Amino acid sequence: MSSELDEIASELQKQMWAGYSETVIDHAQNPRNVGAIYDADGFASVTGPCGDTMGIWLKVRDGIVRQATFGTDGCGATVSAGSMVTELAKGKTVSEAYRITQQDVLDALGGLPEESVHCALLAANTLKAAIRDYLDTRNEPWKRAYRRVV
Ligand code: FES
Repeated sequence: MSSELDEIASELQKQMWAGYSETVIDHAQNPRNVGAIYDADGFASVTGPCGDTMGIWLKVRDGIVRQATFGTDGCGATVSAGSMVTELAKGKTVSEAYRITQQDVLDALGGLPEESVHCALLAANTLKAAIRDYLDTRNEPWKRAYRRVV
């Protein structure tokens, strides 16, 4: 009985992820860097045109992104994109991280189906906004106390 249920579950999983790369599926099912950083140096929350929201938190030391985390209420592709963009940002200089694009996220994920490419854009845009927040507040950290948190 349980093997029959396992087969059904496996078939449903296959149907659900048809058209997605192994990397996308891996990052959706085992997302990296999930959750908030309490004393983040940079934070942004962005809502895409589809209505999904992503938040990204950054810890920066000596001009290097030491930690990058995310949260989202979006779909599996959005989770993959948030996981990947935070992986790409970690260890980069702030200016290198700022230059990470939607295409970089798509390339690292092995692509996304046409209907999901905007998930990579949301991830790249949220990272950029979090870096702008870091740059805006790094000399006036007290401003972070007034940030709206998702
Ligand atoms: Fe909207 Fe993924 S479906 S960001």
